Amino acid sequence: MNAPAKAVELQSTAARYEHITVTPISPNVGAEIGQVDLTRPLDSAVVGELRTALLAHGVIFFHDQPISFEDHRRLAQYFGELHIHVGGKGTASKTLEGHPEIRKQYFDRNSKRVSGEVWHTDQSCAQIPPMASILHQDAVPPDGGGDTLFASTYAAYETLSPRMKAYLEGLTAVHDGSRIFDKGGEAEYPIATHPVVTIHPETGRKLLYVNRGQTDYINEVTREESKAILNYLFDHIEQPEWQVRFRWRAHSVAFWDNRCTQHKAIWDYWPNVRSGYRVQIKGVASPQPV
Ligand code: SIN
Repeated sequence: MNAPAKAVELQSTAARYEHITVTPISPNVGAEIGQVDLTRPLDSAVVGELRTALLAHGVIFFHDQPISFEDHRRLAQYFGELHIHVGGKGTASKTLEGHPEIRKQYFDRNSKRVSGEVWHTDQSCAQIPPMASILHQDAVPPDGGGDTLFASTYAAYETLSPRMKAYLEGLTAVHDGSRIFDKGGEAEYPIATHPVVTIHPETGRKLLYVNRGQTDYINEVTREESKAILNYLFDHIEQPEWQVRFRWRAHSVAFWDNRCTQHKAIWDYWPNVRSGYRVQIKGVASPQPV
C-alpha cells in the first residue's frame, strides 16, 4: 500500500499557531484544539487559525464547550452561510422546531436507529453538499460508547495504486438520499451526481468522493462493475489506518471538513441517552472533477 502523502507534514504543524493549541491525535485525520472558548465571539486571528487547523487535519475537536444555539450558529457563520438539511424528514435526527438550520440528534431506549451509523459524507445527495458540519453533544452515555469514527478521504485516495487512480479519473457517481433516509419519510429523495475523484477547493489535494451511505452507482460502467468497484472503494476508505476514533464528553464539539472526510457514529450505548445538535455550513460549489 502507498503511504498517504501528508501524514508526516500534518504532525509538524504546531509552529503555525499563536492563539490556539492544535494537538494531532492520529497521523492522517483529527486534532484537538485548546485555548479557545466557543461560548464567546472569536477574533479573526483565532478564526484564521481554526480554519488552518481544519484544512490541515480534516476534523477538529474541542472539549468543555457548553455552547448555546446562538454560539453554535455564530461559530459556523465565521466559515460561511448555514446549510439547510435537504430531505431526511423520516430520519433518526430531526430539524429542531423553530431552528431550521439545527438538527437535533437525540437517542435513547426508544430509538429504533440512530443517525450516521453507516459511513458517509453529510448530504452528498445534495447538488452542493455542505462544506462542513459542527456537532455539539450535550449528553453522552454514562458508561462510555457513542464514539464517532472519522476517515480521511485524501489518505484513502493517495494509497490507491496508480492503475486504480487512472481507472477512476473522470468517472462520476450518483448519490441517492433514499439509501440513507428512512423509507416512507417523504415523496422524493434528493439525488445528485458527483465526480468519483474530486479536488478539495481550498487545499488542492485529490480525494475519493464516494461513500457507502449514499453513493448508488458509477455512471460510466455496467451496474455489475460499478457494484464491485464501489464495494472495493468503500472497504478501502473504511480502513482503520486513516481513521481517528473520537470519544465524546458532555459538551465536546466536533467540527469536520465534509469535503475530505467521512464519518460513522457507533450505536453501542442502547438503552442510554446520547444527545446533541448539529449545524452545517453551506458549500460554495459542487465537487469538481480533477
Ligand atoms: C452525523 O452527523 O452523521 C452523526 C455523527 C454522530 O452522531 O456522531
